[in-house]
Amino acid sequence: NKSKNTKNENFRLDIDAILKADFFLNAENNYFPLIEVAKSKSHTILFGQDSDDEKIDEDQWNDDFVKLPCSKSNKDNENNPKWTNINQTLANLNDRVKQFADSIFLEKAIEKCSSNKNLKLKNLKYLFNKAYSKTESEDIIKNLIPKMIDLALDLPNKIKSSIPILKQGKCIESKIFVSFIFLGNTHSISLTEEQCAIILANAFFCTFPERSYDSNPEDMPFINFESLYTGSNKSKIEKLKCILNYFKRITERASTSKRIITFTRICHETQNTNIFKESNKKVRKAIILLDGKIEDCKGALQLDFANEYIGGGVLNHGCVQEEIRFVLCPELIVSLLFMERMQDNECIYIRGCERFNDYSGYASSFEWKGDFFDTTERDKDNRILTDVLAIDALCFRNSKDQFNKKKIDREIQKCLAGFSAYLKNDKEKDVVKIPCIATGNWGCGAFNGNIELKFLIQLIAATEAGRDLVYFTFNDIDVFSKLNLIMDLLGKNSLTIGQVYTILLEYCDEIDNLSRTQIEEFSLIEFFKLKYSDMN
Ligand code: AR6
Repeated sequence: NKSKNTKNENFRLDIDAILKADFFLNAENNYFPLIEVAKSKSHTILFGQDSDDEKIDEDQWNDDFVKLPCSKSNKDNENNPKWTNINQTLANLNDRVKQFADSIFLEKAIEKCSSNKNLKLKNLKYLFNKAYSKTESEDIIKNLIPKMIDLALDLPNKIKSSIPILKQGKCIESKIFVSFIFLGNTHSISLTEEQCAIILANAFFCTFPERSYDSNPEDMPFINFESLYTGSNKSKIEKLKCILNYFKRITERASTSKRIITFTRICHETQNTNIFKESNKKVRKAIILLDGKIEDCKGALQLDFANEYIGGGVLNHGCVQEEIRFVLCPELIVSLLFMERMQDNECIYIRGCERFNDYSGYASSFEWKGDFFDTTERDKDNRILTDVLAIDALCFRNSKDQFNKKKIDREIQKCLAGFSAYLKNDKEKDVVKIPCIATGNWGCGAFNGNIELKFLIQLIAATEAGRDLVYFTFNDIDVFSKLNLIMDLLGKNSLTIGQVYTILLEYCDEIDNLSRTQIEEFSLIEFFKLKYSDMN
C-alpha cells in the first residue's frame, strides 16, 4: 500500500508555498523567549574568552561540569596525566599514518586512548579494509586522520572554560517568567562549529574519561565512539561514513568561521491537566503530507523523535529517525557530552546544526549518499536557521498501555514542553510569528505508539501552544488517509481541544475490557466516526 516517493518536486513546491503563506502565526501564547547568543547565568558561551575580561574558569573536575580529557585531574592508574599520554599516542599516530596508510595504527591508537581495555574494533577494520575502496581508505588515513588529530589536540587551546552539565530539573538558576507566568527553566550552551569539531574529534579517538567518573553515570549518554567500532553492523558502517565525511568537509574550511550552534535544555513547568479538559481552543491546522521528511521542512521547528538519552543509539546500533538525523548533522552529537537524560517535562532545543550528508534507505537499508550542501540562511548570531526539538515519547511494549489518562497526560506535557519553546528570529520585527512544527509518527516506530492517538496528542499540545503542524506520514498512504479523515471530522464539527481530550479519555474507558484483536477492530478513528460522522 505504500506509494513511491515520486512527487518530490511537487512536494517541495507545496512546502515552500505552505511556509510562505500563513503558516507563521501571530503569537497569542507565552513562549520561552530563547533569543540570542548573549552571556548570562542561563547561557554559557564557550567561545570568545580571549577578548573577555572575565577570568577563565578553573579546570573543573566535579559533578557539575563535563570531565574533559585535557583536565589536569584526568590521571591514569600511575597518577600520570592522561592528556600527556593522549598527546603522545596521537602524535605517534600522526607520524605513522603519514608514512603508511594502514588503519591498524588508527586501531592501536584508539585502543590506547580508550578507557575500555577490551575493545575489539572489528567494524572499524571492516570500514577501512572492505567498505571503502583502497583509494578512499588511503586518502582518509593519510590526509584526513592527521587533520582530525590536530583538531583533537587543540582542545585545551580552543575550549578554555568548563562546560556545565545541563542537569535534570534545575537548569541552573534560570527562571523564565513571561507576563508574570512562570514557564520553567532553561539553560543554553553555545559553541562554534570549530569547538564542536574538536569535541567530536576527541570522541572519535575515544579520549573522553569514562562516564563512571561522574556521580550520575546512569543519567549521561556515552560520548566516545567505541561502540561504533565494535561488532559488525552495516548501519554503523554507514553512520561512520557520514561522520568521516563531516570531518572531511569541516577540516577543509578556514578555522576562522564563527558559525555558532546553541544547545538548550528546557524544563517546563508541569501543567495541571484540567487545562486540557476545560480548554475551548479550536483545534489548529494540521497539514498532512504523504511525501517528504521532517529534515526537509525548512523554517519549521523540526522534531527529533528522541530517546530520553539524547541521540538514542546514534553511537551504537540504532538507525531510525533520531540516529539518522544525528549523523546527517553530526554537530547534534555534541549534545551527548553535556545533556543529562530528559525527564517527563523536559526537552532539548538545538539551533544551528548544519546538514553535511545525504542518505537513502532507513534502518537496516540506511546508506550514506555523499555530500549535502546546506543552504539554509543564518540568524544574526551566525547560527543556521534550523531548529531541532528533541522530545522523547514513552515506549510501549504492550500497545494497550498507552490508552490510559496518565500516559496521555505525560505525552501531552512532553509535547507542550517543546512546543512552548520558541527561538526568536531577528528577521521578525514587530509581529512575533511562530513557526509551525514539522512532525510525523512520533513515538510510533521503535516505541510502538498508536499513530491516531499520538497525532491527536500532538494536535492538542500544538493547539495549546498556539502552533500549527505539518505532519509527514512517511509515504504511508493508509496513515495519510486516516489522519486526513480525522482532520475532516474535527474541522466539520469545529471541535475544541477540550472535546478531543475528552473523547480520548472516553475511548480509553471504552476499550478497557476489550482484547487486542477487538481493539484493532474498534480503533480510535472508528470511535471518532461513531461519535461525529453522522452529526453533519
Ligand atoms: N521524517 C518523517 N517521518 C519519519 C522520518 C523522517 N525523517 N523518519 C522516520 N519517520 P522512530 P520513535 C517516521 O521509530 O517510535 C530511536 O532509537 C516513520 O514512520 O525513529 O519515537 C530513538 O533514539 C517511523 O516509523 O521514533 C528512540 O530510542 C516513525 O517516524 C526511539 O528510536 C517513528 O520513528 C524513538 O522511537
